[in-house]
Amino acid sequence: MKLKPSVAQALTRIAQGRELPFYWYDSEQITAQCRRFGEIPYAPKSVHFATMANANPDFLRLTRAAGINVFVNSLGHLQIAQYVGYSGRDIVFTSSGMSDALLASVRNAGAVLNLDSTGQLRRFWKLFPDCPVGLRCNIGDRVTPRKTHSGYFLGRDSRLGLDLPELEELAGNPHIEGLHLYLGTDIMDLAYYQECYEVMADLATLFPNLVYLDFGGGFGVEDSDGDHFPMEEYGALVTDVMNRLSSRMGRPVQLLLEPGRIIGAEAGYLVVRVTDVKLRHGRQLVGVNASSAQFTRPLLYPDDAWHPVFRLSGQDGPLMDSSVYGCSTYSRDFLAHDIRLPRVEEDEWLVLSLAGSYCASSFTRFLGFEQIEEIFS
Ligand SMILES: Cc1ncc(COP(=O)(O)O)c(C=O)c1O
Repeated sequence: MKLKPSVAQALTRIAQGRELPFYWYDSEQITAQCRRFGEIPYAPKSVHFATMANANPDFLRLTRAAGINVFVNSLGHLQIAQYVGYSGRDIVFTSSGMSDALLASVRNAGAVLNLDSTGQLRRFWKLFPDCPVGLRCNIGDRVTPRKTHSGYFLGRDSRLGLDLPELEELAGNPHIEGLHLYLGTDIMDLAYYQECYEVMADLATLFPNLVYLDFGGGFGVEDSDGDHFPMEEYGALVTDVMNRLSSRMGRPVQLLLEPGRIIGAEAGYLVVRVTDVKLRHGRQLVGVNASSAQFTRPLLYPDDAWHPVFRLSGQDGPLMDSSVYGCSTYSRDFLAHDIRLPRVEEDEWLVLSLAGSYCASSFTRFLGFEQIEEIFS
C-alpha cells in the first residue's frame, strides 16, 4: 500500500505550522463509498451508516448529503443523528438491555427498532401494545458461526439476539415488522453472507406482515494483499436473495443495510509528529505526540489492527523493524506494532492510514488525553 500523492499533498498543507496531531478525512471518498451502496440494484432498500464507526457531525452531514441514512445503538448517537437532520425511519436503532426510558425515547423518535430478546419484546409491548417492531436474530444453529475481528456474533458464543427456538415460537405474529442480522466485522468472504442471508430469507416467511430484512454491516476494507470489498458481486448477491424472497412473499420486502467501517476507513488518516527515536537491538522505537488512548484500535485489537504507516515526507531508505509508541507511561501504549519503516527522524510527521472508522470514535479518557481534532476537506 502507498500513500496517494494527492493525500500526501493535502496532509502536508494541513501539517504546515501545526504542532498537534490531527485526523484528516477525504470527504469525496466518503461520499463515493456511500454512493456505492446506493447503487446496489435491489429496491426497495435503505442504507444506514453505523455511527459507532464515526459519529462526528461533519461525517454524518456527508452521509446525509450522499443520500444514506443512519444506524445507531445509543441515545447519544440518536441525538447526534437528529441534530444533523435525520428523523423518523431514517434512523435504525438496534441495541440490547434497553431500559423502559430508552425504549420510549426510540419509539417516540419514530425510529425503526430491532429488539434483542423475548424479555425486551415483552417490556416493549407492555409500554406500546402490539406496536410493530423488529427482532435481532441469532441464527447460529443453522450456519457455522465464524469468528471475526471482534469475536463471534452468531451461535453460542454470542450474547446477542433471539435464538431459533425463540424466533420460531413467535412465528405467525402479525406485529413483527422486521428481522435483523449482524455477522461480525471486516468480512470479505461473500459465501458467508450468502449462507446467512438465505437462512434469514427462510425465517422471514414465518412473519406474515414482515416489512424489512436488515442484514447489518460487516463489509471488509482494504487488506494487506490490497484487496477491496467486492461491492458489485455483493450487490448482485443480495439483490438475488431479496428478489427471490419478495417473489415468495408475493410483495416487495425492504432491504436494510448498516455499513460502518467500510464507509470511512480508507478515507481517514491519523497524522502524528515524531518526538523521540530509540534505537534498540537493531530495532527502531518511534515516540510520537499522540497516544493509543486517542487511537485505540491497536490497544483493542493488538493482533488484528492494521494501519500502514508512512513518512509524510515520502522519504524512504532501508527498512527496519519498528514500532510506534504513544506519549504516556502506559507500557501497552503503541500506535503500531512490529512494522517495517525507514529510519525516521525527530520532528517529522508520520501518517497512519485506514484510520477513518472506529479510530477517532473510540477515543477514551483513560490516561488523560484530549480528543484529536478531526478535519474534513
Ligand atoms: C448491529 C450492528 N450493525 C452494524 C455495525 C457496523 O458494522 P461494520 O462496521 O462491521 O460494518 C455494527 C458494528 O458493531 C453493529 O453492531
